[in-house]
Parts: sequence; C-alpha cells; structure tokens
Amino acid sequence: MKGIVLAGGSGTRLHPITITVSKQLLPIGDKPMIYYPLSVLMAIGIQDILVIVRSGDRGMFQSLLGDGGRLGLNISYAEQEQPRGIAEALLIGADHIGADDCALILGDNVFHGTTFARIVQREARELDGCTLFGYQVNDPHRYGVGVTDPGGRLLAIEEKPERPRSNRAITGLYLYDNEVVDIAKNIRPSARGELEITDVNNAYVRRGRAKLVELGRGFAWLDTGTPESLLQAGQYVRTLEERQGVRIACLEEMALRMGFIDAANCHALGESMAHSSYGQYVMTIARELSA
Ligand code: TTP
Repeated sequence: MKGIVLAGGSGTRLHPITITVSKQLLPIGDKPMIYYPLSVLMAIGIQDILVIVRSGDRGMFQSLLGDGGRLGLNISYAEQEQPRGIAEALLIGADHIGADDCALILGDNVFHGTTFARIVQREARELDGCTLFGYQVNDPHRYGVGVTDPGGRLLAIEEKPERPRSNRAITGLYLYDNEVVDIAKNIRPSARGELEITDVNNAYVRRGRAKLVELGRGFAWLDTGTPESLLQAGQYVRTLEERQGVRIACLEEMALRMGFIDAANCHALGESMAHSSYGQYVMTIARELSA
C-alpha cells in the first residue's frame, strides 16, 4: 500500500501565521504537525509516501524530512498549485499510487488511541474498496457526515449538511483500492469549485464497496485548523506525554517499532537532537528497545 499526506491548503483560518508557514509545519506539542499523520501511515506499515504541499513550500518540508531514508522511508514530494480540493491528491498522486492500494491522510489530522494502530493495520489488510473512519462530533455540519442504515451500513456521505442526519464525521484518513485513481479522474468540481473527496467516497458507496469504521470513545481525533483548536491539540498532546511519559507520533520510535530502522540508527537520530527532550526520549527508547 502506498501513502499520501496531503499537506497543502491555504490555512486561512490561521492567518497571519500561515501566510508564510505551512499549517502542517506548525508545532503541536513538541513536534511539527505533519509528524502526526506521517506516524499513522507508518503505523499501517507504509514506507512509500508522497507528501503533497502548497506551491513554494516544498523546500521546508524537504529540510525537515529529506528523502525519509533515515527513518527507513521513501518520501517524495509534489506541489499542489491551488487548493482545488482533497480529491486532487489522488490525481497528483496517480503515478505514485501506480497499481497499488492507497492510504490518503490529511496533513492536519491528529489521531490518538491505544488500539488505533492495530485497527488501521487490520483495515488495511482487509481492505475491499474503500474504508473510512467515523468519529462522533458535536458540530457535524462542518464535516462530511456518514449516513448509515439501522444496521450500520454506509448509505451515503453528505458534505457539510445544514441538517446533519447523524453526528458521525468522516475523518481525514481514507483507505482505497486501486480503482480510486479512475474514480478520481471522473469526478468534476463541486459548486464551491473543489474536487470533493466526498464525491470519491460516494462513488464507492454507490458500488456497495464503502465501509465505515467507528472510532469510539477510546479515541481522539483532534482539530487543528483554528488558533484555539491548535492550542488545544498541543495541550492534549502535552498532557498525555507528561502524564504517561510516552510520546505520540515520535517518528523515530515508530520507525524502530515497525522494524524500518535498528536501535543503533534510532539512537543516532536521537543523539543528533540531544539538546531537546524529544531527542533525549528517542535515545531512551532506542536503549530500551535494544535491551
Ligand atoms: P482545510 O482545513 O479544509 O483547509 P485549509 O487547511 O486550507 O484551511 P482553511 O480552511 O483555514 O483555509 O484542509 C484540510 C486539510 O487538507 C489540510 O491539511 C490542508 C489539506 N488540503 C490541501 O492540501 N489541499 C486542498 O485543496 C484542500 C481543500 C485541503
């Protein structure tokens, strides 16, 4: 399975911060936002990852992540000229996807839950068509909303409905089989001029090949799009990390746990950041896991 992180967008709700800096490079806790979605793809076991960024932002992402080799990844980059919609990621990424299945994740999505990795791994393994992840929110009109029958079968997805028929928002992690490239090529811009990911997902719903996995109470799906929610996400991460002494979305730890790198490499990565508590944590984890 190939991975795509869509980290473009204009981040207008965070202006003036995001006029010069990509939203996905802003800090959440002690690390850049893009670490969180990247760690989700790594947790699935994906090593081939395309990062799609806003036109002109490539250099900064490249300085941060390079070609991914030090994490045992193969990271490539593409630019999205204009934010023409989430589904455009599937067109920009068509060559990268090739003949494979694909996991698309939005660069500003933060997921957390102890069993999250196990669930996404299982869903990737059992993928048949398209798998979406639903999360209960109190403001569903802001999202794509899943409409299910009483048995839980996905009947439709409504984009930002005025009168939502459920409070189940569709989160920004989408697993697709290879048909997604053809489906994306055939959708047209919506009234707001965007290639809507909801149209792609509804094409799978119509084929009876869309599955909605409920992320229940044991999970967090955090918003990061406004100054308030960005701060809250940082506080959430910090509280958990301080209380439990574990890091969320530590890419070096994830690479080690997934077997993408060995403990010596992991330790060296920590050492290169030894002045920060993040770097110290990476070294500690490398020592613990090599013991
Ligand atoms: P949004 O939050 O919908 O848009 P945005 O990030 O541009 O912010 P704002 O609404 O404040 O202007 O985007 C969700 C995620 O998807 C975010 O990580 C950016 C990404 N995205 C793109 O990369 N390209 C696009 O064309 C769109 C619509 C979103």
